[in-house]
Amino acid sequence: MFSESRVLCPQLKSKIMTAEQAAAFISDGDTVGMSGFTGAGYPKSLPRALADRAGAEHKAGRPFQINLWTGASTAPELDGVLAEAQGINMRLPFQSDPTCRKQINNGQMHYIDIHLSEVSQYAWSGFLGKLNIAVIEVTAIHEDGRLIPSSSIGNNKTWIEQADKIILEVNKGQNLKLEGMHDIYYGTALPPHRKPILMTKTDDRIGDSYFRIPPEKILAVVETDAPDRNSPFTPPDATSRQIADHILDFFQFEINKGRLPKELLPLQSGVGNIPNAVLEGLDTGGYKNLTAYTEVIQDGMLKMLKSGTLSSASATAFSLSPVALEELNDNIDFYRERIILRQQDISNHPEVARRLGVIAMNGLLEADIYGNVNSTHVMGTRMMNGIGGSGDFARNGYLSIFVTPSIAKNGAISSIVPMVSHVDHTEHDTKVIVTEQGLADLRGLSPRQRAKLIIDKCAHPDFRDRLHDYFERACATGRGMHTPHILGEALSWHENFERYGKM
Ligand code: COA
Repeated sequence: MFSESRVLCPQLKSKIMTAEQAAAFISDGDTVGMSGFTGAGYPKSLPRALADRAGAEHKAGRPFQINLWTGASTAPELDGVLAEAQGINMRLPFQSDPTCRKQINNGQMHYIDIHLSEVSQYAWSGFLGKLNIAVIEVTAIHEDGRLIPSSSIGNNKTWIEQADKIILEVNKGQNLKLEGMHDIYYGTALPPHRKPILMTKTDDRIGDSYFRIPPEKILAVVETDAPDRNSPFTPPDATSRQIADHILDFFQFEINKGRLPKELLPLQSGVGNIPNAVLEGLDTGGYKNLTAYTEVIQDGMLKMLKSGTLSSASATAFSLSPVALEELNDNIDFYRERIILRQQDISNHPEVARRLGVIAMNGLLEADIYGNVNSTHVMGTRMMNGIGGSGDFARNGYLSIFVTPSIAKNGAISSIVPMVSHVDHTEHDTKVIVTEQGLADLRGLSPRQRAKLIIDKCAHPDFRDRLHDYFERACATGRGMHTPHILGEALSWHENFERYGKM
């Protein structure tokens, strides 16, 4: 059906142009919603053209910046080039790009760090202002105008609906056989008109396989042929394996106690070394027919689908190494039966996550002795990446597990501190904390009980005594505290690090 061109719709064929021509539709001050989620499905050529334009305008002494909305982090070809050209005034809802991070922390770029499930509601409600243009990568366009989505869905449906005008990038580099893997749900609404989302299993399909766009909204179609950014897979290190082993023992313990079924509950897993180690451990641990209700499909999940450890996975994007991408492309018919890509307001939906009873596993920067978690702000001030979907899952999961090595920066930093310097996940949401030292199951424990357990099980031995000392002195003040603290000292560890480079 698709041969030379991936644009079969005659009305849209006439709108094919270069990225430079399409970039000319975007003006200084515009708010632009682009596709892209963890390095998948982002536009490959328009951001470069836009960055060149910003550079030229700045050279001529004229301002040129956009407000940039996406699904989540993207890639150097989007966030990187635009930030380097000083082309972004405001960014949301998540990024992990070094240049963006620097500009955000210098106050040169505004950044709104939002729960990923909530972005579309913000946009629909008008809290974020007007969306002028959407730039969306798709795999192909059928003759009747139906659009086959690409390797991520993210917020694309919302951008398409909310933007005044749309630029499409049709990427030949995406596998045409992605067709049918997507599930675009058209039943979302603002309150008071909301209806239940009829999903009781991770593999329930509740929507369509295509985006719908009124053709008159489409300004331009740009043809590209480029791969997603695929970072090589880093095998889990020893620390990650130790953390994974604690989690696997815990799962077995919970199964033996009858508190988890032998197929566990739908897994949500952040990306990175530790989650990869957990997935690897599950894959060799004799599990069968597990399911995933998560944000991204990474290498480990693909392997688990292949081996039958995982029977199905729901997500909003891929985040694969080049080797795993090849595996996906070579066996895409097999994977299409088992993978559903949904928009992020559904993949991360709190109602669905609570109903399914998701097991959420996410990373943290620091946790305090009571279980409050900081995932975003280094020393309470400098943005790392953002909260992403961790809050969507942590608050609503059946089990919210946070993982981290017990120390950072060669032991200069303890990941367990008296008081976190910024709170993303409160003690009420954190159910389990795991470091390579051990696992603290905080369910059913009071703050004082939690403190002892976290210090004993999770803190690094180099910091354990000091944490116990802090806690005991806080308890001994005799000032009647439910959650004992010495306020003048609670953040002294962070202050030490800022002053002396060591906590
Ligand atoms: N203070 C300062 N720096 C710290 C730190 C702390 N307490 N803890 C870790 N770091 C540094 C590490 O040294 C490392 O720095 P480097 O890149 O210069 O080597 C960096 O933070 C990443 O730490 P790492 O241990 O490799 O963990 P990670 O890659 O798993 O990332 C988070 C941890 C918290 C940054 C990451 O999980 C995140 O962004 N979470 C929020 C979003 C999220 O959870 N998404 C998934 C939801 S679906």
